[in-house]
Amino acid sequence: MSVPQTNFKSPFRFRRASHAVLTSRDLPKSREFYTEVLGLVVSDEDADTLYLRGLEERAHHSLVIKRTVGRPMCERIGLRVFDEEDLDRARHTFEKLQLACEVVDLPFQGRTLHTRDVMGVPLEIVASMEHRPRRDMQVQEHKGGAARRFDHYQITAPDIRKLADFYTGLGCRIADYLMAGDHPVGVFLQMKDTPYDLVFLERDGPAYHHCGYVIPDVQSMLRACDTLGELGWGDCVEYGPGKHSVGHSYYVYLLDPDGHRVELLLPPIVYMDGDDAPHVWDVTQVPRATEAWGLPPRRSWFSNRSPFPDVEVTHPAPGGSPVSLEDFLQMAG
Ligand SMILES: [Fe+2]
Repeated sequence: MSVPQTNFKSPFRFRRASHAVLTSRDLPKSREFYTEVLGLVVSDEDADTLYLRGLEERAHHSLVIKRTVGRPMCERIGLRVFDEEDLDRARHTFEKLQLACEVVDLPFQGRTLHTRDVMGVPLEIVASMEHRPRRDMQVQEHKGGAARRFDHYQITAPDIRKLADFYTGLGCRIADYLMAGDHPVGVFLQMKDTPYDLVFLERDGPAYHHCGYVIPDVQSMLRACDTLGELGWGDCVEYGPGKHSVGHSYYVYLLDPDGHRVELLLPPIVYMDGDDAPHVWDVTQVPRATEAWGLPPRRSWFSNRSPFPDVEVTHPAPGGSPVSLEDFLQMAG
């Protein structure tokens, strides 16, 4: 069994997972969900677009929500590079890999590169955004989960090894590598110094599973759930609160009014040393890698995802399926 090796001489430097672009059929409802339940701040909005950021974020937005009349989708996932030179080198690198690139002008952010990764995931790469004041100190304004900052996204895809090779080739490090025997089924890739910026798990895809926001504490998690309940959206608490057995954090997964999933997690652990090698897990030896205690996720958590536009979804090789809440209750009963 081999784990992909990071190319520390990558031609450009990714900085972090920075934002996501989603579509919504009901923008006012989305606004209510993300401001009241998550506690995000509206940086700007018009009739068709909502720009949101976490309480400690200076960057103009970490979530863009666009009005749609069609099926809600994840249009793009956003990545940051260190500077404009890195952005030029990123474009050159993707073009060399024969991945089509387009430089576009978008509101509130610097020069933006649109491209795709090796599985067709639509990427939006930037070096800068406009700034807005941080709101972390204005505690009297904080609402719901008081979400502080964007942390990561998770994507399902049929070929984990291919993605792990691609992103480690571009300088990403692996925090956790999930194997089923000798077959890779998940990779937690880091760009900043926390365990994950990009997570890929083996399932039909590529498709967008969720993004994660860091919240201050467990009390904030409960307050987000309480707010959902009070707004009549209690059923949108899909999974948790609980603690992952692989993943280093407490979690709760919520569904927004369009069915996009968002995770609230506590401040993650930090990877401080360059020689902190990937942790390889054999999931056949950790029967429930999703949680350290409590009940497994309901089946919808595994099966429902937000599609990317114009991406062909393919299926992984047949293998074992994860234990859902429904399976668990059947086995127990
Ligand atoms: Fe997550």
